[in-house]
Formats: sequence, C-alpha cells, structure tokens
Amino acid sequence: MPSNIKATILIVDDAPENIDVLTGVLRNDYKVKAALNGATAIQIANGKTKPDLILLDVLMPGIDGYEVCRQLKENVETTNIPVIFVTAKSEVKDEEYGFTLGAVDYITKPISPPLVLARVKTQLALYDQSRHLEKLVQQRTAELNETRVEIIRRLGRAAEFKDNETGMHVIRMSWFSRFLAEQIGKSEQWCDLLYNAAPMHDIGKIGIPDRVLLKPGKLDSEEWEIMKKHVEYGAEIIGDHSSPLLKLAKEVAIFHHEMPSQ
Ligand SMILES: [Fe+2]
Repeated sequence: MPSNIKATILIVDDAPENIDVLTGVLRNDYKVKAALNGATAIQIANGKTKPDLILLDVLMPGIDGYEVCRQLKENVETTNIPVIFVTAKSEVKDEEYGFTLGAVDYITKPISPPLVLARVKTQLALYDQSRHLEKLVQQRTAELNETRVEIIRRLGRAAEFKDNETGMHVIRMSWFSRFLAEQIGKSEQWCDLLYNAAPMHDIGKIGIPDRVLLKPGKLDSEEWEIMKKHVEYGAEIIGDHSSPLLKLAKEVAIFHHEMPSQ
C-alpha cells in the first residue's frame, strides 16, 4: 500500500465503549470502521473496500468472534485479511484456539494503547509485504506463461518456414482448432490450450529430408513412409512434460493426421 494512503482497520465489538477506546487509539494513523456484531463485520469485510486488518472481539451475542474468524478464513475474498483478537478471554487455551482459526495475534483487555498500535503496525507491514510478493509472483508467472506460449508459437513457425515461407498455415490451424473445439463444447480454458498447442503440430517436419519435404511432385511409397514419420519426430521433439500445454502439444503432434473412428 502506498505510504500516503491510510490503512483501514475494522473494529468489531458489541460494546460501543470498547469501540470508542480503540477508535481513539487508532484514528490518528488509520481509517477506522466499526461493527457491533459478527454479521455486520462479515458484511463489511466482504464489501468493495476491504479492511486491511480486523480487530475482533470474541464474546459477542449472535455470531461470536471465533465463528467470524472461521468464516473470514474460509472465504477466498477475505482469507488474507489479518485478524487480531481483542478480548478479555486470556486463558492459554483461548489464545491457542484463536491462532488455530487463523488469527495473527491476540490482545487482551483492558488494552494498552502503545501495544495495540505496535501490533497493528507490525501486522499491517507483514500484510503489505505478502500482498506485494503475491503480486510479484503473479506478474512473473504471467510473464513465464507468455514466454512459453510464444516459444511454442515460434517453434511451430520455424517448422513451417521450410515449406511455407509465410508461416500462415500454423496461424490458420490454431484458429480453426480453437473454433472446432468451441463447436464441440469444450471449455474456454481447453480451447485456449489447444489454440496455443496447435502451432507445434508439424514441428516433426524438421526431421524430414528436403528431398522429400520439398519434392514438387507426388511422393512415391518410400518417400510417403518417410513423410509419415513427422508425427513421431514431432512427439519426440516436444518430449514428456507435466505442463498441460506441452502435453497437449505432444498429443496434437502425434495424432493430427488421425481420423476419428466412426
Ligand atoms: Fe502434419
């Protein structure tokens, strides 16, 4: 979070006086929201502007703090928001239970203002760091995926360059493959995978001698047998991988001249 934007803290407590005390401690440094019960807290946490941290009372009528925490951690939208329990329950087993539910800290009442400020600051810094790292990982993963797809596309075009200088054939093949996959009701994700795997279908032509591949006339039976080998060469070039894209590319390379059985 940029340093000029104040973080938002959600205080959840059924006693308005406790909310007032915590608001007094936090309002100079943070934007403060408050909820008097668990249901409102969950609603605010799921809203458009999510809190950056939640200070959560445990003993409340209706949904108690433990249940609020459990529900927040179960929901992918709110699971990463740090929760600090602020409660009069100071038994070790209570604290232990709070941590097992996914809380990051536990503050006992009556609260000490400097301690609340220090704990909140620490947890916000950690949350900021984890959000930053997560963003970086997402960016790098997208870059890697893009590079992988581009390399596959380029390899496919490299194979085409030998007998089709424009390389347009692989591009058309990719579009037709996706279109046909869509028509038979495949998922959007699978159609995209096929679109990206299809350019490799003739990569095995790299292994076919020019006298056969570039022969202007009809191939004789011996040449035809050599030509047919390009599907095996293609599968061999692509190899065995755990990546769904390369797995499908191999399948496409080896089966692209097969006809479905009637
Ligand atoms: Fe082919």
